[in-house]
Amino acid sequence: MELRFLGHAAFALSDGETTVLIDPFLTHNPRAAASADEVEATTILLTHGHADHLGDTVAIAKRTGATVVAIVELANEIGAQDVDVRDPNLGGTVTFDWGWAKLVPAWHTAVSPSGTAHTPAGLLIEFKGTTIYHVGDTCLFSDLQLVGRGREIDVALVPIGGHYTMDRHDAVDAARLIGAKTVVPIHYDTFPPIETDAQAYKADVEAQTSSRVVVLAPGETLSP
Ligand code: NI
Ligand code: MN
Repeated sequence: MELRFLGHAAFALSDGETTVLIDPFLTHNPRAAASADEVEATTILLTHGHADHLGDTVAIAKRTGATVVAIVELANEIGAQDVDVRDPNLGGTVTFDWGWAKLVPAWHTAVSPSGTAHTPAGLLIEFKGTTIYHVGDTCLFSDLQLVGRGREIDVALVPIGGHYTMDRHDAVDAARLIGAKTVVPIHYDTFPPIETDAQAYKADVEAQTSSRVVVLAPGETLSP
């Protein structure tokens, strides 16, 4: 399988047949690596409904017929727009023929652009046998260490930009708590308040934890 960074917090997981999009914020994303009218999608997974994560979800789902997974209040809003949805809450797992996704806690706030209040989440995902943890928008908190217990996390997608999430210093401790084989930094350099030094983050994590860091430019891929 291949994990493609689409910019900000957006990813496409694909094996060439099935594509799972995560947080497809493309149209107003100054660093988007794809346009909303060209991406493939079998399933779309959302951490929360802030505009920089919900993004083009509804348009892509309508064009592709993809099922959208979001926490129940946000799923209800999206489902009312004639989109197929699955609506777990925190702790819930939804299964598909490609694998499964589980909503796990994240410390953040969330109201959708249309005003739907909901609780933000992280996503623990198993796609075709590879385990990926999209941490979502969050500050540092100790329960990050619970998410991967009993299994190996292949790739963790960790915000480092600060201001709206943890910064690159707290994200070093997050990487240690998560314990993934590979960490990919996300949610930085998209807008001025979240500019940071991803190479410094890589150096710090690799000096202080057993994880390796892969810094992906938008459009680049990783094959875990
Ligand atoms: Ni957010
Ligand atoms: Mn965000």
